[in-house]
Amino acid sequence: MASLCTYPILVTTLLMSFLIVAISANFNQDFDITWGDGRAKILNNGELLTLSLDKPSGSGFQSKNEYLFGKIDMQLKLVSGNSAGTVTAYYLSSQGATHDEIDFEFLGNLSGDPYILHTNVFSQGKGNREQQFYLWFDPTADFHTYSILWNPQRIIFSVDGSPIREFKNAELVGVAYPKNQPMRLYSSLWNADDWATRGGLVKTDWSQAPFTASYRNFNANDACVWTSGSSSCTSNNNGNTTATASWLNEELDGTKQERLKWVQDNYMIYNYCTDVKRFPNGFPPECGTF
Ligand SMILES: *[C@@H]1O[C@H](CO)[C@@H](O)[C@H](O)[C@H]1NC(C)=O
Ligand SMILES: *[C@@H]1O[C@H](CO)[C@@H](O)[C@H](O)[C@H]1NC(C)=O
Repeated sequence: MASLCTYPILVTTLLMSFLIVAISANFNQDFDITWGDGRAKILNNGELLTLSLDKPSGSGFQSKNEYLFGKIDMQLKLVSGNSAGTVTAYYLSSQGATHDEIDFEFLGNLSGDPYILHTNVFSQGKGNREQQFYLWFDPTADFHTYSILWNPQRIIFSVDGSPIREFKNAELVGVAYPKNQPMRLYSSLWNADDWATRGGLVKTDWSQAPFTASYRNFNANDACVWTSGSSSCTSNNNGNTTATASWLNEELDGTKQERLKWVQDNYMIYNYCTDVKRFPNGFPPECGTF
């Protein structure tokens, strides 16, 4: 008898979780297409978004929400075949000259040659913190998950759950950290054949156009939405503002640190923190231990 009584509750709970999943992954609800004159499309009732690029124009979209800290996932399937010259950018950014920004950029290549995953972090308008990677899979054959964990202590870039880069809060050594300016999520597909592939040597082959990148399963359930000066992550108890989510303090555990090292040892192809030619008088302070 007892088990019979619990079924309706179980069914209701299941239905509710499906509903939440459905709502959390709807591009119509979460994003605006911002440019490209019809080249960006939201399909399958909001489950899929595609960007395309041809000679006249690329295309792009942005999140309706602004976030101040968050754990954000998206699955991307990049331009396949000869994608040389194309760049798919996927990033968080605030507005203005002293903006903050957390960047993933995917630099296309000739068929069979590897994409470069380019990353950067801007704080209060200052960037120049590039790290670049090859991937351990073909990012055009299937969807893969690209994630940003951004909390007050650190920014962690991950690919399919493997951390590839950690940018720590280095305010202690005088480096500004993104923590006061809410950021929107942006993505675009555009032509950058003046620099993207082999430093600009390989140009976009327009006979292959249109180029298409696809997006699905956006997840910002663990992100603080910023609306008119207040955060969805803080609860106000009689004037005491407290943040409760555990990801706000998340750091890399031992397993994740080993995984980060594995990626950096095997797939990192550029790190500004080891570029002696560029910094002959010493590396930026955030490159050291502090
Ligand atoms: C493209 O392929 C070449 C040759 O393998 C490689 O040197 C380069 O890093 C690849 N990626 C880009 C974006 O140029
Ligand atoms: C706010 O939090 C502090 C520390 O937890 C507590 O001592 C204080 O009573 C709280 N104030 C109110 C108005 O709830």
